[in-house]
Amino acid sequence: MDDPKAQVAKAKEEALSALASANTVEELTAWKNTYLAKKSPLSQLMGLMRQIPAEEKAAFGKTVNDARQEVETAFEAKKEQADKAALEAKLKAESIDLTLPGRHYDVGKTNPYWLVVDEMSAIFASMGFSIVEGRDVETDHYNFELLNVPKDHPARDMQDTFYLGDQLLLRTQTSAAQAHTMLDSKDKAPIKMICPGKCYRRDDDDATHSHQFGQIEGLVVDKGISMADLKGTLERFVHQLFGEKRQIRLRSSYFPFTEPSVEVDVSCAKCGGKGCNICKGTGWIEILGAGEVHPNVLRMCGYDPEVYSGFAFGVGIERIAMLRYGIDDIRRIYTNDVRFLKDFQEK
Ligand code: PHE
Repeated sequence: MDDPKAQVAKAKEEALSALASANTVEELTAWKNTYLAKKSPLSQLMGLMRQIPAEEKAAFGKTVNDARQEVETAFEAKKEQADKAALEAKLKAESIDLTLPGRHYDVGKTNPYWLVVDEMSAIFASMGFSIVEGRDVETDHYNFELLNVPKDHPARDMQDTFYLGDQLLLRTQTSAAQAHTMLDSKDKAPIKMICPGKCYRRDDDDATHSHQFGQIEGLVVDKGISMADLKGTLERFVHQLFGEKRQIRLRSSYFPFTEPSVEVDVSCAKCGGKGCNICKGTGWIEILGAGEVHPNVLRMCGYDPEVYSGFAFGVGIERIAMLRYGIDDIRRIYTNDVRFLKDFQEK
């Protein structure tokens, strides 16, 4: 057996020469588990102390510590290098090319139909109207009979629709919601509601007509409601929607469920009333039908016409969207062409 000092030198040389060929993080870990482990020759050197004479013990201890220190320092240096190299390799492998184009997501836009529904609803809500949801499928009773349009009434000719059965049909007008609201709220006037929704009619589709379209119904029932209330409400509505400069005009008209009945025009925004291609030379554009609720309707829907009165109106939603945004063909509203939809910005 070599003498203790030679054993120290040997253990050190063996550890260092093995370290020389360990380069990767894994190799260095394996090396450490062998050469710096508790049972490794290098770690056991202090055990040789027994063989050392007392006066040399201190010097021998230092030799062992220095040897161990030298090996550990050499290992730390290599480990640091290996860790750095491993990190660099990882960063390189995982690098992202920032010059690549990003993924493109199409974000939806609100259809102008809904933009004006929201806008009109907000205007009426600000005047204290509640918003009622009607139903697309109605009975003949609600869509016609309760609105003073009996079976043989000629007004039915203009409102032919899609029948789902003998008495079931797709509603031709949101006015059906008037009857529901009055019957549901019997004797709980005042009623002040709007009802936006889809309507259906047998119509030939063209630039201004569609077999499916939207209306916003309005209904107010209380004691002492007059045409002046109707006019004031609609004037405020038009001013909020189109601006303070616009005027309204009431023309006498006919609807079976209102008496008197009117059609309401708004002064043309383009020519200010002088006459142009938009208003077809008249200076006015028709926007809705309205009137005082007919006594027969009030009676059928549970309100005594001697006590209560009311007004109602029906606005075409697409009509308003077309005027509001200068849309030339109603069909654009339904075809969902993103190039068209992108032109509209929410307020
Ligand atoms: N329902 C009518 C239509 O569709 C419009 C209207 C509603 C008229 C309310 C008067 C009162 O033409």
